[in-house]
Amino acid sequence: MFKFLIFFGLTCIANAAAKQAISVTVYYEPLCPDSKAFFKNQLMPTYHDLEQSVDLNLKLIPFGKAKIIKYANDNITMECSHGPPECYADKIQACALKILDPKNNTLITYLGCLMDLGSKENEYPTKKCADSNNISPVTHRVEACATTNQWMDLVQQNEKETKQLSPPLTSVPVIVFQNTFKDDDNIKSRTNFKGVVCKYIDSPKPKTCEGVSSAPGDSFTTLVGGTILFLSLALNMLR
Ligand SMILES: *[C@@H]1O[C@H](CO)[C@@H](O)[C@H](O)[C@H]1NC(C)=O
Ligand SMILES: *[C@@H]1O[C@H](CO)[C@@H](O)[C@H](O)[C@H]1NC(C)=O
Repeated sequence: MFKFLIFFGLTCIANAAAKQAISVTVYYEPLCPDSKAFFKNQLMPTYHDLEQSVDLNLKLIPFGKAKIIKYANDNITMECSHGPPECYADKIQACALKILDPKNNTLITYLGCLMDLGSKENEYPTKKCADSNNISPVTHRVEACATTNQWMDLVQQNEKETKQLSPPLTSVPVIVFQNTFKDDDNIKSRTNFKGVVCKYIDSPKPKTCEGVSSAPGDSFTTLVGGTILFLSLALNMLR
């Protein structure tokens, strides 16, 4: 029995150590419909499906096409694509990302909730989402950070990282794997994020990756390519 427990314990450690790390950076705007849809339909379900199999090293950068305006007295203000409510959401999210434990997946489910419920019309769900994630005590810290000047450094850091993107960001979300922007990954991630993550996972791939091709366009490409080849052969025969 004891031997079994030791063996079981070692197996767990071995599994934990063997988890492959995949880094994913998401550049987004908290109130943008496409960013919200990406979180809800792609990022969150994939994160839950793959949590056990890979160490998804998520870096979330809420900023997008926002602008920071600097004044001579060191004061700064923001302008955001979806107006002042989005600037507030940028600050809240930057603060939550700083304050919550990055190793704890509560951070991701909290951000997922903020992205899902956040809207221009309603009060930002800082507290509502904290309550549903059992982290009510952080609400006031996150709000204090977003409403005093603590947000300034955090949001300026997000601006800096967004501006480092090459090619420059023109729409959101932008999804980058392993710190290297690839247009193909970025586009496919919007409709099949899980497929792209699975592409990066070494074999043997987890069961959940079975049948989630990272290339939903492949059959179409083959069809078009095949048709063009057929037509050009046919034309040659007619000559
Ligand atoms: C910073 O600028 C904003 C907008 O002009 C203003 O409301 C705020 O009071 C200023 N804060 C400081 C500390 O000057
Ligand atoms: C993650 O955070 C929650 C809420 O603060 C806490 O209850 C939980 O124990 C934490 N989990 C880990 C693994 O630290």
